[in-house]
Order: sequence, then structure tokens, then C-alpha cells
Amino acid sequence: MDYKHLADSAIKAKQNALAIYSNFYVGAAVLTNEGKVYTGCNVESSSYSLTICAERTAIFKAISEGEREFKAIAVAGDTEDFISPCGACRQVISDLCGEIDIILVSSSGDYIVKKTSELLPFAFGDKDLE
Ligand code: THU
Repeated sequence: MDYKHLADSAIKAKQNALAIYSNFYVGAAVLTNEGKVYTGCNVESSSYSLTICAERTAIFKAISEGEREFKAIAVAGDTEDFISPCGACRQVISDLCGEIDIILVSSSGDYIVKKTSELLPFAFGDKDLE
């Protein structure tokens, strides 16, 4: 599947990143099963641990608008190599999006596609809470 459009949405969302402490700007775009796109960026706090990543911003925006079924999420930073989502975001993607395509974008705009279970094998999840 061609994820160029989703990758471009993530790159565009990066423009809104509020990354005054790390100067590491990240954008994300999550695609619903029905084809709607929700974007997000990282938003940092002076109390550093309160910072939220771009991926979780995008996913929480979508969830809070009533979305529940997802197909893919694209993540873009300014890294020469393909950006890699942090562990916390991998957990949230696994919990809230399930087994979807995760599009990792490099600063040149190239991307690779991974599955949730590739980035978070042997995941903890709701099944473990039964
Ligand atoms: N960040 C993201 O937004 N997504 C990632 O996948 C990696 C890290 C943000 C968090 C923080 O604002 C900055 O990048 C540096 O860690």
C-alpha cells in the first residue's frame, strides 16, 4: 500500500511541534479504517516527564473524536534514518490501534512500513488483565 500521503501528513504535522527543550520535532498522522486522518505533534512541558509524543497526540485526538478502528500511523522527525517510536507509544499503539501498519519516515521523506507486533513483540495488553 502507498502511504506517501500519510507520510506527508506526518511531515506537515511536525511544523506544529512544541519542542523547546529537546529541539526534536516530531509529527504523526493516524489513518482510520474509513480513511480519515488525525494528526499530532510532540508537545513538551517544563516538567519534562509531562511531555507527550506526536504519536499519542494523534491517537488520543482520534479516540476523543469517537474513532476506534485504525489502519496505519505515520511518524516523521528530522532523523536521517527512519524514526523509531518510543516504547510508551508502541504500547499505546498496541493497546488502542492493534495490529496496524506503522510508517516510519526519514528526513528525506522515504519511509518503511512495520507492523505493531514487529515493533512490540510479546506485548502486554488487555488480555493479560482478564
Ligand atoms: N518524541 C516523539 O514525539 N515521538 C517519538 O517517537 C520519539 C520521541 C518526542 C518526545 C520529546 O518531545 C522529543 O521527541 C524528544 O524525546
